Amino acid sequence: FPRTSLYLNANDNVTGLLHRRNHDSNKGSFGDVSIIGGADGMCGAAILSARGALMSGAGKVHVGFCTEQTRSSMEIDPQYPEIMCRHANDIEFAKSVIAIGPGLAHSPTAKKLLARALNESPCLVIDADAINLIAQDIQLQHQVLKRREKNFSTILTPHPLEAARLLNTDTANIQRDRLEAISELTDKFQTIVILKGSGSLISDGQTTFINTSGNPALATGGTGDVLTGVCAALLAQGLAPIDAARLACFVHGAAADALVDAGTGPIGLNASELMPAIRRQLNQI
Ligand code: APR
Ligand code: MG
Repeated sequence: FPRTSLYLNANDNVTGLLHRRNHDSNKGSFGDVSIIGGADGMCGAAILSARGALMSGAGKVHVGFCTEQTRSSMEIDPQYPEIMCRHANDIEFAKSVIAIGPGLAHSPTAKKLLARALNESPCLVIDADAINLIAQDIQLQHQVLKRREKNFSTILTPHPLEAARLLNTDTANIQRDRLEAISELTDKFQTIVILKGSGSLISDGQTTFINTSGNPALATGGTGDVLTGVCAALLAQGLAPIDAARLACFVHGAAADALVDAGTGPIGLNASELMPAIRRQLNQI
């Protein structure tokens, strides 16, 4: 297989991916996103993903909290009551784009929900603890591979440590040759992969894009959770998985660049501030 690498920048390969909205469109035109995660003590991770999806144009956004009790840990997101909060057991896995992992934890409930998502969700973003659970469990790895046979869409979004867990190696080894690492990941899992970090790589196994946007202001907790929500919202709006992944990475980084230019960072930029800037990027691109 010939593999190509392309630099991802605003002028060539991200403009025009998200189409202008038809005048007679409605919320159904822009899809449903459901975030599965937010175990006790980690609600914020799932909320950040949900807000990221809301700010990136999804028609409707749900969070399914993965608590051990059957009650949702939050009734409502007070800042964005548009987001519908419930227990993860009450999410319809087959009907919306699912993003699973932010704050998911490692409970038996988490594992069951992940197995369900892998089997039932035609369009899936896999992040954070969902990645860690897959790395530990060969059965779940088989389920990831089966998705390809069913023509299901999958985006896997590891940071370097999560990538190391998936490939049974260490972070230094991933960072030494990131292009090699992402090609091993796409070979092993047959999904779209985003290998995050400075110069995020995005690959479908044939073409690897190297993102040129972004800066160390992003090195703060929660920015990865936001990226997951952006990916899910772009999938919900009908982008092909590789396009959703590269546009999400590009606008996420470009938003951080714009904020730093305006003096909101690199010191102290936070994930919540990143979201309106991502929205601006999506509307301008
Ligand atoms: N330059 C450019 N982009 C960067 C840089 C940098 N120096 N540092 C980080 N980023 C970007 C990454 O590319 C990615 O998009 O910020 C995001 C960070 O994502 P994660 O590493 O997943 O961090 P985050 O999710 O916010 O951390 C919260 O979730 O995945 C778990 O283990 C993780 O405990 C952590 C928690
Ligand atoms: Mg993360």
